[in-house]
Amino acid sequence: MMKNIKLALPSLKDARMRKNKTIPTVRYTVEHTYKNLGQNKTYAIFTYGCQGNEADSEVMAGILEEIGYTKSEDPMSADVVILNTCAIRENAEQRIWGVLGQLKGKKRENPNMLIGIAGCMPQEENATNKILESYGFIDLVIGTHNKNHLPQLLYEAYRSKAKVVEVISSEGEILEDAPKVRESNHKAWVNIMYGCDEFCTYCIVPYTRGRERSRAKEDIINEVKDLVSSGYIEITLLGQNVNAYGKDLGEGYTFGDLLYDLDKTGIQRIRYTTSHPRDLDEKTMQAMRDCKSVMPQLHLPVQSGDDEVLKRMNRKYTYEEYMSKVKRLRELVPDISLTTDIIVGFPNETRQQFENTLKLVQDAKFEGAYTFIYSKREGTPAANMPDDITDEEKHKRLEELNVYINAGYLEGHKRFLNQIVEVLVDGPSKNGDGMMCGYTPHLKLTHFKCSDLSLVGKIVKVKVTEAKTWFMIGELCE
Ligand code: SAH
Ligand code: SF4
Ligand code: F3S
Repeated sequence: MMKNIKLALPSLKDARMRKNKTIPTVRYTVEHTYKNLGQNKTYAIFTYGCQGNEADSEVMAGILEEIGYTKSEDPMSADVVILNTCAIRENAEQRIWGVLGQLKGKKRENPNMLIGIAGCMPQEENATNKILESYGFIDLVIGTHNKNHLPQLLYEAYRSKAKVVEVISSEGEILEDAPKVRESNHKAWVNIMYGCDEFCTYCIVPYTRGRERSRAKEDIINEVKDLVSSGYIEITLLGQNVNAYGKDLGEGYTFGDLLYDLDKTGIQRIRYTTSHPRDLDEKTMQAMRDCKSVMPQLHLPVQSGDDEVLKRMNRKYTYEEYMSKVKRLRELVPDISLTTDIIVGFPNETRQQFENTLKLVQDAKFEGAYTFIYSKREGTPAANMPDDITDEEKHKRLEELNVYINAGYLEGHKRFLNQIVEVLVDGPSKNGDGMMCGYTPHLKLTHFKCSDLSLVGKIVKVKVTEAKTWFMIGELCE
């Protein structure tokens, strides 16, 4: 049996706390001892969950490469394999337990492989307890707050040959100056804030990610300026509730102000996610109208169209309030493409309440949505709410909802038929049929016949010839 070194264990009780204290900013440095830890060793990171996790994986990759590791060509056989996990729903976790099962086999073939689990799952008491009790082959357990400790934790795991666990359930810090290996050379994630203070009753994120905390605007603006000078075309600003940006800094500088300032950096395309409907303010909406670089597209999760359910979810807005934001957005940015997130089967959601959601979907004319069946998360308030709705009924509602959502996707593509759109080229299409693909300003995936790899990372003009549910097809103009 492997020894355990428990440097810190998760505590939901601590994770729930919000003390009124200043958030420390930590500037990344690495101790000399660890500088060559990864020499002649390879690494692989598997990322699950949201864009926040993708951005975190880019930081972990940066840290690993800085201490000598190289990216493995064969991820399942790397010397260090890290799973950057998500805890948002039960099925997200099931997938991860499945991958861990596969890795167990790989480790039998290569006992020197070091397996780490990072991200949101270890922040849950239950998950970490399960790892401690039944997953002897995992060497490193690290949460969302201590990526910067990766070098010393790896060092400790090699030295001790024990399972090293450090999961911190504090409100969190802000990490600056950490190295990053970005996935793309033309599109970049830019964190503007971390954590969440909303405490929607179904959601685990405020517990796994800590307190809402904003990066200093200078740090964000400088990062974007650097991206522009390295040739980046598009940025996506990240936060669980970007519209709360700056509130914790108390300087009166808001998300809208940040959009206006970032527009001046020369970056060509700005997107942001996620927006909370209650906090989406007039200035932000005006910035969407005024700033050429801010793309005419918004993901605005509504979760439900029923006021009583919204109240029990602690979303702090009503159907009417949501729709009035939608109306205002369309006044300011008439061709805006709106997408959303919806949960069906929230505890004891009635048929009528579900139908109110269907009504809102039609009213709001969404052009896409992530739709989910409610999943119970231990430690959240909704986990204690009575629920008499059967699984079968929940699945039926999801299917019914998706008929409307998929029609919205199709409509959203149809409106560009025969128009010329600007596509930022990502690369060859996945099905390998001589097509390339990329996204339009409205975030519509577009495929077009082309084999000129020099166009990757460039914006090209494409005439849309076909509108499908999940994408558009077009012809390259130039
Ligand atoms: N901060 C973002 C979203 C974070 S999670 C926001 O507030 O919009 C992404 C989506 O997962 C949520 O919008 C919600 O629709 C869904 N989700 C979160 N917790 C869930 C749960 N317990 N069960 C089902 N879906 C959930
Ligand atoms: Fe979760 Fe709500 Fe925070 Fe989004 S705003 S991360 S749904 S608690
Ligand atoms: Fe998942 Fe954590 Fe993101 S729970 S959705 S990876 S914040």
